[in-house]
Amino acid sequence: MSDPKRYLITAALPYANGPVHIGHLAGCYLPADIYVRYLKAKGKDVVFICGSDEHGVPITIKAKKEGITPQQVVDKYNDIMKNAFAEFGIKFSYYGRTSSKVHHDTAQDFFKSLYDKGVFKEEITQQYYDEEAKQFLADRYITGTCPRCGNLGAYGDQCEKCGTSLSPTDLINPKSALSGATPVLKETKNWFLPMGEIQQSDAFQAYIKRFDNWKSNIKGQCQSWLTEGLQSRAMTRDLDWGVPVPLRDADGKVLYVWFDAPIGYISATKEYFSSNVSDNNGKWEDYWMNEDTALVHFIGKDNIVFHAIIFPMMLMTHGKYILPTNVPANEFLNLEGDKISTSRNWAVWLHEYLVDFPNRQDELRYVLTSIAPETKDSEFTWKDYQTRVNSELVSIFGNFVNRVMVLSHKFYNGVLPSKQVELTDEKLITARKNCFEDIKQSLEKMQQNLEEIKLREALSEWINVARAGNKYLAETEPWKLVKTDEESTKIIMLDALQICTKLAISAEVFLPHTAKKLKTMLAVSELQWNQIFDENILSANHTLGAAEILYKQVEDEEIQKQLTRLEEIKKANTQQPAASNLEEVKPDISYEDFDKIDLRVGKVLEAEKVPKADKLLKLTVDLGFEKRTILSGIAEYYKPEELVGKLVTVVANLAPRKIRGIESQGMLLMAGNDFGKLYNVGSEKDIEPGSVVK
Ligand code: 2FM
Ligand code: ZN
Repeated sequence: MSDPKRYLITAALPYANGPVHIGHLAGCYLPADIYVRYLKAKGKDVVFICGSDEHGVPITIKAKKEGITPQQVVDKYNDIMKNAFAEFGIKFSYYGRTSSKVHHDTAQDFFKSLYDKGVFKEEITQQYYDEEAKQFLADRYITGTCPRCGNLGAYGDQCEKCGTSLSPTDLINPKSALSGATPVLKETKNWFLPMGEIQQSDAFQAYIKRFDNWKSNIKGQCQSWLTEGLQSRAMTRDLDWGVPVPLRDADGKVLYVWFDAPIGYISATKEYFSSNVSDNNGKWEDYWMNEDTALVHFIGKDNIVFHAIIFPMMLMTHGKYILPTNVPANEFLNLEGDKISTSRNWAVWLHEYLVDFPNRQDELRYVLTSIAPETKDSEFTWKDYQTRVNSELVSIFGNFVNRVMVLSHKFYNGVLPSKQVELTDEKLITARKNCFEDIKQSLEKMQQNLEEIKLREALSEWINVARAGNKYLAETEPWKLVKTDEESTKIIMLDALQICTKLAISAEVFLPHTAKKLKTMLAVSELQWNQIFDENILSANHTLGAAEILYKQVEDEEIQKQLTRLEEIKKANTQQPAASNLEEVKPDISYEDFDKIDLRVGKVLEAEKVPKADKLLKLTVDLGFEKRTILSGIAEYYKPEELVGKLVTVVANLAPRKIRGIESQGMLLMAGNDFGKLYNVGSEKDIEPGSVVK
């Protein structure tokens, strides 16, 4: 869309089951906020929507863990999350909740409308059921091995490692997350979205042309799912927490959380207009039903399928809604070499950061934007945080502003002088010309990158402006020049103050707390974005405010404290699983049951990676009496060449199973934990392949 009339920007509704960490911020909320701030600075009509996702299994699991009700869980975390976002300057137009009445009504109406149109397929299917907990096991109530990438901890609705959307019955070795029991299959009725059929429709085929303009990581993922062919997916669940299915024969059933959550964007927009805008008559519809609106969903990569495929299918089959213009999904941010994990407490929590680094939110915004996982996973380390803050934000930007402010007060008592002459010294003329050229180029590139949502690059161009300012001062040395040439010094200082003002205007987009302080120092308020390209923003006789230090250095002790905390967590994680995370021992089995399992020694003859499956290795294993192809989810822990020649224990009579189109004819016995240590691979010459393991 070349020039949309208005923008509706959404940031993924976070589950209200835990506080917010740096991964959330870098992956979704910070990029959305920066883009919105930019659009607003450009004078665009923008509504920025977010809110708490208060349904779904993660909430009920948390409630069980904490011994409170799901409602208490969402009330608690909704407040915590909302405050954390506000503290970090993430400025939503509206932050809703999916437990609100408006949302329940909106989601039920939406479902009813698709139901009345005959979109859903009503089906009685076999779903996993936990006989101990007496409950159907939807979505995250069930875990197992991902059939696509071999991740051992995939959920019943999705594998977070490879992003694939799953059904519980796709999982290998399913386990109830409630009791650890192996679930049984039981019949139940649900309403399915026939995604395979919708995929074939002209409307969907026209819609997916948009992917061509999207980031390659999203386009690639979507295309690979579409090539595999989409499966029908149940839009209802047998659960007692959620939006009740608005049909007569649906007692004890609620809408699938991924059906109701994205509708949360719509209900929050309705609530925004009814609470904030006096003339709200049908205003929300302009944003959702008018083709000249650009709808942009900011999300993390684990949400791609829901925003790029399933929600658009819902909107499309409803018929009245627009479809997303762009879905700029980010990859994941890792922490000190390991995947961020709430359950392992491997995270930097925003509320904890605020205690250890009070009033230093922009430092984190700066670092997270400069390492944002825009095209691939990226890494947060505390050392890197310290370096980026100290040698970029403090030394380049903070130092430039400070020098200019201090000198302006010293030379002119904080009142801008007027320029009387032009520069005559060639060296000064050249320095000035180069500085102006560099700054113009950086500002143009910064703007272009903001347009294209390349925020890392945009920020790097922003700091380049300060870099050019510093270079100008270093080359012209106004602190010396003032002693011999006051008039030339005035010109340089005026230039430097204009550069500070450009930085203040553009900082509003990246670093709002900084922008506010800097604008107070410069005593400016109503500045327009396009003034960053003007030469003279401040005029003669303008009186500056007091100089203030913008940032302080990050000290080694502060970093060491964070590293020590993480070391302790890592230690606790490696020691404790023994005590707390070990699975319960399963009920006794008879010797006859055990004897049914045929365990053999196998020798690995060949091992290779499975294309597009990060976790899987395809092994050829010699069982003495025959050779088998076995797929195993151990690619993260072993290089193929390390396995060749090794002896392994194989379940030799497990029924063959197709994984990623390849038939796996057995299973290797392995043991591991979250850190990926795996045991059970033996030496080369212990015993003959085919020997029975007892
Ligand atoms: O992954 C999550 O945290 C989900 N709660 C995101 C939902 S986004 C939208 F659809 F509401
Ligand atoms: Zn997977």
